[in-house]
Amino acid sequence: MIYKIVKYGDPILEKPTEPVTEFDDKLAKLVDDMWETMYEAHGVGLAAPQIGISKRLTVVDCSFKEDPKAKYVLVNPKIISTEGKQTGSEGCLSLPEIRADVTRAMKCTVRAQDVKGKTFEVTGEELLSRCLQHEIDHLDGKLFIFRISALKRDLLLRKIRKLQKAGEW
Ligand code: NI
Repeated sequence: MIYKIVKYGDPILEKPTEPVTEFDDKLAKLVDDMWETMYEAHGVGLAAPQIGISKRLTVVDCSFKEDPKAKYVLVNPKIISTEGKQTGSEGCLSLPEIRADVTRAMKCTVRAQDVKGKTFEVTGEELLSRCLQHEIDHLDGKLFIFRISALKRDLLLRKIRKLQKAGEW
């Protein structure tokens, strides 16, 4: 099932999520639906709040279907270490047409559970590191436009308000 993606302006995107406690068929189905929704929207990551579900759950595939080993289901993820810095352009399915340079850790290690509840760790560099941090931010209710300067953010928020007024948001 393809969900509608929630856009900036909906308070669910700025609220910290609840941990996942049930590792059942319902969770497996939700994860399947998140993959379907993410690929349909041409994204490389999707967090549960972006489909209106305030749970600590995200999916990431920076290879966009190229590499099955690059697909990560992260349940209750937590960043346990970071290293270095990188600055690069970022976008978000919940902020269509909006892009900005964001500085993040060059490398990060995340501890999470898989869809069955088994704990694992993943270390990402460059794009994967950026993706993991972006998606985990979603689970903490933080959007990438709140990781840039207030001046740049105000410009983007003005652009969003224009799109909202035009009924294009
Ligand atoms: Ni996003």
